[in-house]
Amino acid sequence: MITSLTMTLARDIEAIEVDDLKIGLMINLFIEALSEQKVLPMALVILRLIICMADRNFVMEERVMARYQYIGREEHIKAHETLTSYISGLEAMLSLANDFSDIDAPSVIQFLTRWHAEHAVYSDGHLIDFLNAIAPDNDMVVI
Ligand SMILES: [Fe+2]
Repeated sequence: MITSLTMTLARDIEAIEVDDLKIGLMINLFIEALSEQKVLPMALVILRLIICMADRNFVMEERVMARYQYIGREEHIKAHETLTSYISGLEAMLSLANDFSDIDAPSVIQFLTRWHAEHAVYSDGHLIDFLNAIAPDNDMVVI
């Protein structure tokens, strides 16, 4: 399929930005559930949604980074793996719990808040800046 590189890049950038918003929203919902000690099954559903959204976003971003030979790819992938591992561990712990009493809520909130803020702003921000910078004037490509 022949398409415009600029259009492809714009589509990829929009997908990254929208996914960052969705993941941030779900993280905020989980933090609210944790902070207010809401029903544990609801918190588990929110965690599962974060994992599903993050998995899909990470696969897409990692494909984009490989396609355009992004220099910060390995470090970026490690950041993805850090969140995936953390949330999977949290999900496993909560799925065995009766309530939130075994969870160090302030630590979880700090990790999730910091990870998302740093990743969305810096890591994904750098990737978006990189993608914005590579569209040439004559940009018809085969994908
Ligand atoms: Fe990312």
